[in-house]
Amino acid sequence: MGWRGILGFEYGIVQAPLGPDISGPELVAAVANAGALAFLRTPDWEAPDYVKQLIRKTRTLTDKPFGVAVVLAFPHEANIKAILEEKVAVLQVYWGECSKDLVLQAHEAGVKIVPQIGSFEEAQKAVDVGVDAIMVQGHEAGGHVIGQDSLISLLPRIADLVRGHDCPVIAAGGIVDERGYIAALALGAHGIAMGTRFLATNESYAHPTYKAKLVELNNTEYTGVFGRARWPGAPHRVLKTPFFMDWRDLPSNENESDQPVIGRSLIHGVEKEIRRFAGTVPNATTTGDIESMVMYSGQGAGLIKEIIPAGEVIKRIVDGAQALILREFVSDKISG
Ligand SMILES: Cc1cc2nc3c(=O)[nH]c(=O)nc-3n(C[C@H](O)[C@H](O)[C@H](O)COP(=O)(O)O)c2cc1C
Repeated sequence: MGWRGILGFEYGIVQAPLGPDISGPELVAAVANAGALAFLRTPDWEAPDYVKQLIRKTRTLTDKPFGVAVVLAFPHEANIKAILEEKVAVLQVYWGECSKDLVLQAHEAGVKIVPQIGSFEEAQKAVDVGVDAIMVQGHEAGGHVIGQDSLISLLPRIADLVRGHDCPVIAAGGIVDERGYIAALALGAHGIAMGTRFLATNESYAHPTYKAKLVELNNTEYTGVFGRARWPGAPHRVLKTPFFMDWRDLPSNENESDQPVIGRSLIHGVEKEIRRFAGTVPNATTTGDIESMVMYSGQGAGLIKEIIPAGEVIKRIVDGAQALILREFVSDKISG
């Protein structure tokens, strides 16, 4: 397997889903066209007709297969039904139970199912219900972070767990270049998923100021400051922006619900007010005080130096991984 691909895709590289709408049709199609697995992200509310439109729009931009992601903490049943009716290649689920029944429903529709998990115990449950691959999220990851362990200790345990099962392990968290890719493979992963690296691409739907901050800033923090009212008990990793540094000790009894409105976004076609401390990142439509909005990022931000096309991210990692292996790990004593 190695870098040669997972789940029938050309490469073992995955564009992690980026909520609420940052991994839209343009990004997903660009990644799919470059031979990797990309995920659209459904709305956090039931909108099955819209989900079908999103999938169909993506299909006008690529004839390659792709996936759709659902956060199980929000209403989702009609959205999942729409995804399965559209028979996309892969359904990704996060933050909720990936039940045996859901796996059976996906398989009956001919759709592969991949949960993102953050602990050995969750991985064990996923293997037991027969998922097609497991995305292992390390503590290094950007966005909401479900577990406490870093990839360096968690991946080898899960690699041991899946031995003998046809269940590739996909490493997610802090990976932005070929060095992270090879390190993940060495720890037992079969592929990698990147969120932050794909956020910082031409095709991502993130606001230009957010993309610029990913290049400019190097440090992140695991916190619970943002989106406490809408999604309680869901810690996240963010860029250490000046706004975040001013408010990182926000008292635990405060949340976004009674804060001033600092901007507006069109999210999946619906106009939303953004309050201070909301958990919603600025997208391409957002107006207002962008620099005071949450900016999720993984620990790899310090390695991101430029905004490039998504296809270029994949090409650099694949070419770079092959060159790195030949340069550093293939012994010249074999031929001599
Ligand atoms: C802006 C942003 C939004 C995210 N949204 C989701 C999501 O909707 N569903 C999900 O499973 N993971 C989501 N994640 C987490 C990713 O799946 C993945 O675990 C993470 O990006 C990996 O770490 P990295 O960002 O360092 O590559 C998000 C991450 C970011 C940065």
